[in-house]
Formats: sequence, C-alpha cells, structure tokens
Amino acid sequence: MDYGLGKRKALVGGASKGLGLAAAKALAAEGCAVALVSRSEENLREAAKAFEPGQNILTIAADLSTAEGVRSCIARAGAWGPVDILVNNTGGPTPGRSFELDETAWGKAYESLLLYTKRMCEHFVPGMRQRGWGRVITITSYSVKEPIENLVLSNVFRTGVTAYLKVLAREVAADGVTVNTVLPGAYRTERYEQLLENTARRTGRDKETVAAELVARLPQKRFQKPEELGALVAFLASEQASGITGAAVPADGGMLQSLLS
Ligand SMILES: NC(=O)c1ccc[n+]([C@@H]2O[C@H](COP(=O)([O-])OP(=O)(O)OC[C@H]3O[C@@H](n4cnc5c(N)ncnc54)[C@H](OP(=O)(O)O)[C@@H]3O)[C@@H](O)[C@H]2O)c1
Repeated sequence: MDYGLGKRKALVGGASKGLGLAAAKALAAEGCAVALVSRSEENLREAAKAFEPGQNILTIAADLSTAEGVRSCIARAGAWGPVDILVNNTGGPTPGRSFELDETAWGKAYESLLLYTKRMCEHFVPGMRQRGWGRVITITSYSVKEPIENLVLSNVFRTGVTAYLKVLAREVAADGVTVNTVLPGAYRTERYEQLLENTARRTGRDKETVAAELVARLPQKRFQKPEELGALVAFLASEQASGITGAAVPADGGMLQSLLS
C-alpha cells in the first residue's frame, strides 16, 4: 500500500535510538525526508547508518528538554523546509514513586514531556494548518490509560500531554491536521533496560530474572519490537489515516486490561 508520503518532511524527536529511531526508519521507508533529533552527535552519526543509501536524512543535535534546545532544533528544521509530520518523543522521566522524587525531577519531567510537546506544536502546527495538511504523532506510554507503579512522573505528565493534544486535535481538525498519540507498552530499548535495572535494584533481584518475570506476565509473552511501533507511526502519518485524530492508540501487545483502552 502506498501511504502517499513521498513528498513529506518529518521531524522526529529522540530519534537516535529506540522507538524514535524506529519511527524515523519507518517514515523514511515510506519516502519521507526525515530529520532526526537527539542530544548526542555521536548517537546521531551511529543512527544515520541505519538508513538506506538515497534516503533523505538530516540530523539535528539538540536537547529537547530545554527551551534553548527546542529553539535551536526549530532553527535547524526551519532552514531545512516545512515540517509536515511532527513526531514528538524524548527520553523517559526518572522512575520513582509518589514521594520519592524531588521537585527538580518533577520540573525536569514537566519541561521534557509537557512543555516540550507544547513548544513543538506551537511552532510547527500553524504552518501545517496554513498548508492544509499535517500530522502530529506523540509517543507517550500506556501509563496514560493505566498508571504504572514506580513511574509517577510518566503517569502525571503524559496524562497532561494527552489532554493537551486531545483538545488541540479538535482545534485543528478542520485544517487537515491530525493529532494522535501512540502508547508503547514494553519494548526492550535502552530506556527499558534502565527500568529493568531500577526494578532489579529496588527488589534485590538480578535484571534477567526481572525481565523473565515480566515477559511471563505479558499477554504476548515477549517484548515488542520497535519496528512494530514504527509501523504504527507511519500508518498514522499516511493519507489513509486522514480520518483518525484525537486518538490515543495503544501499541502495548495487549498489556492494557481496561475495556476502554
Ligand atoms: N521502551 C518502552 O517500552 C517504552 C514504554 C513506554 C514509554 N516509553 C517512552 O517512549 C520514549 C522513547 O523510549 P525509548 O525506549 O525509545 O527510549 P531510549 O531507547 O532511551 O531512546 C531515547 C532517545 O531519545 C533521545 N533523547 C533522550 N533525551 C533527549 C532529549 N532531552 N532531547 C533530545 N533527545 C533525547 C536519546 O538520544 P540521546 O541520548 O542522544 O539524546 C534516544 O535517541 C521515552 O519517553 C520512554 O519513556 C517507552
């Protein structure tokens, strides 16, 4: 199926590794020009090797958790051309329970999840509306539907991100811009390795035991593959998905148990 993305430009956050890289690769495979953003030049150089010769790739080193980093990303992306597809994604927040994290950690999570998303949308969505076509796809977490133990910052701020984007979706729907979120469950990326290590430390077990116990509880009895999430992002960006907006789409291998997930 041709997704109709051959002339589109996509800007993907947190794209040197993990889920962001998978989204960038899926969009590039559909013919999009893709700008990959992450903090480290070295990680970006490594990530660029994952693309086919001839795919149109730009790398932008910027820290999306700060106003200055977002400004410099916007400046680089602006010189590159109009962004049609914005994939919002950064690193996950510090794990911890309700009373375990200080206000610095809360402030950092607020800025890198909620304020970052608002800053990017505020800059890029007006151009999409003027051009009559755009896609905003934000990687959040299944925590927005079922809060996760030991991830209070994800539970709180990603829910806020979801609420913000739900309202935005309706505000821009008439201008050809769709706004959706995707909700990963358990993908064994670097982020997930850190979460497994954290649980292992907290519970006094080794990481592989923690991982095996988790897999046994997962409905599909396996971690998901980043390519699976990449494929969902590419579909939500497609012409075919032009009627899907304001949706929070689980990409969780059936982890969510709620009837309304
Ligand atoms: N993996 C899962 O199963 C899962 C489940 C639920 C939610 N999530 C969430 O989905 C998001 C992506 O997860 P992942 O598993 O792909 O994580 P990951 O493997 O740790 O990759 C994170 C990517 O984001 C970049 N990054 C981190 N902080 C950044 C910042 N401040 N500015 C710009 N780029 C930044 C990293 O590159 P640099 O280090 O070079 O900046 C890297 O490319 C995270 O927010 C995570 O919490 C993941």
